[in-house]
Amino acid sequence: MKEKLNKTLKFINSRITESPKVGLILGSGLGFLADKIENKIEINYEEIPYFPNSTAPGHEGKLVFGKLSGKSVVALKGRFHLYEGWSPEIIKFVIYTLKMIGVEKLLITNAAGAINKTFKPGDIVLVKDIINLQFRNPLRGPNEEDFGPRFPDMSQIYDKIWASKVKEYFPDLKEGVYLAVLGPSYETPAEIKAFRKFGADLVGMSTVPEIIAAKHCGIDCLVFSCATNMAAGILDQPLSHIEVLEIANKVKNDFSNIVLKSLEVL
Ligand code: HPA
Repeated sequence: MKEKLNKTLKFINSRITESPKVGLILGSGLGFLADKIENKIEINYEEIPYFPNSTAPGHEGKLVFGKLSGKSVVALKGRFHLYEGWSPEIIKFVIYTLKMIGVEKLLITNAAGAINKTFKPGDIVLVKDIINLQFRNPLRGPNEEDFGPRFPDMSQIYDKIWASKVKEYFPDLKEGVYLAVLGPSYETPAEIKAFRKFGADLVGMSTVPEIIAAKHCGIDCLVFSCATNMAAGILDQPLSHIEVLEIANKVKNDFSNIVLKSLEVL
């Protein structure tokens, strides 16, 4: 893997002028933030050696380098979900690529179903802990000793100091535990009841492999979920991806403010 990563890095470095210290992974409906990046340098995934390349229609796949909130950033426009068939190892490859580029802080966003009944659609929630019910781990297989230990600590998955700086500006920011499932089918009402007993506040199909790989290689994370819908069985209505996108779109401005402020306080 190291050899491949070196080639990937060499290619990326040949295209960029500054090494970003901050990475952004933008979830459903938040891709527009990558368009706000100034002095953009864009690299399509398909150009990058060994990089996975999402071919799903309507999904752009590119790294966007430049300045956002005055910080030098790299945004992943188009993320890799396990339900698409990507192996967890590919997600590790992507995160290690960020590490090699120089990324030290990673801001992750996602859309999620609200299990916690005090949340409502449109709420933005700071993720303080995670439950991995994907039954897969990106670190499975030989350990990349150059990146981190065989058994990395996961007792604090988010950067507390970074979060506390953000909370100074958003004192009412909700907090919760994000539980990841494999998808792509949504959960059943019985599963949501069980997940609530586990202590989960939110459910989604992304983010957890990214956090695990980032923690392993010493990248500090801050994660925001947009609760786009009440989880299955809470309301007497079926879940739909259209609803998820509609709500994510509605809270675009609030979400954008939190992300931009999170970069500014760094
Ligand atoms: N479940 C899983 N993933 C999701 C949901 C949900 O209810 N909403 C948005 N992403």
